[in-house]
Amino acid sequence: MKKKSTNNKVMIIDEEIHMKESEFIVSKTDLKGCITYVNRTFMQMALFNEDQLIGFNHNVIRHPDMPKGVFKFLWMTIKKEREFFGFVKNLRSDGRYYWIFANITPEYNEHGKLSGYLSVRRTPPASAIAVIQPIYERMLQIEKAATSKKVAEEQSLAFLQQQLDNLSMEYQQFVINLFNE
Ligand SMILES: Cc1cc2nc3c(=O)[nH]c(=O)nc-3n(C[C@H](O)[C@H](O)[C@H](O)COP(=O)(O)O)c2cc1C
Repeated sequence: MKKKSTNNKVMIIDEEIHMKESEFIVSKTDLKGCITYVNRTFMQMALFNEDQLIGFNHNVIRHPDMPKGVFKFLWMTIKKEREFFGFVKNLRSDGRYYWIFANITPEYNEHGKLSGYLSVRRTPPASAIAVIQPIYERMLQIEKAATSKKVAEEQSLAFLQQQLDNLSMEYQQFVINLFNE
């Protein structure tokens, strides 16, 4: 699929939108991360229609408060064909935001070859965001002080790892526990 790009700049509004607990945001991508499918809840939460999403990367809903390190870790995980779990603050086209707890899994074609990725997202508990938000804020500060994108990702991920070491926890166990609290 031809990669599409967008230059849309929206004015950020510090106002949260909550998704119902019974709802799921679903999307699929090819191996490069170009969106191939979105469900209705995705479009309703992000305030985009299908034409504005299919063929684009999920960075159309990337919020500037999200650290680069989180996405680096996401891609490192799924490229190894492992599933990723994580909290993501997403940007709507009206500038407001919504938090989600994402699960991304690999998808395979009929020959058993990796063909893309599937993401299912649920609404996270406020208690989880209260823990994750200050960690992301610190990661973002570290990234802003870094000399390059690569260094920014490395240093902010090192900070995240330090937090996990302090708790003697693996990343996946940490985020799943937060979601289940
Ligand atoms: C299946 C899948 C789902 C994704 N979902 C999101 C998402 O909900 N929000 C987001 O900002 N990035 C998501 N990403 C990551 C984006 O591809 C991208 O790495 C991220 O938005 C950072 O983009 P940037 O490096 O261009 O700033 C997803 C990636 C995949 C493969």
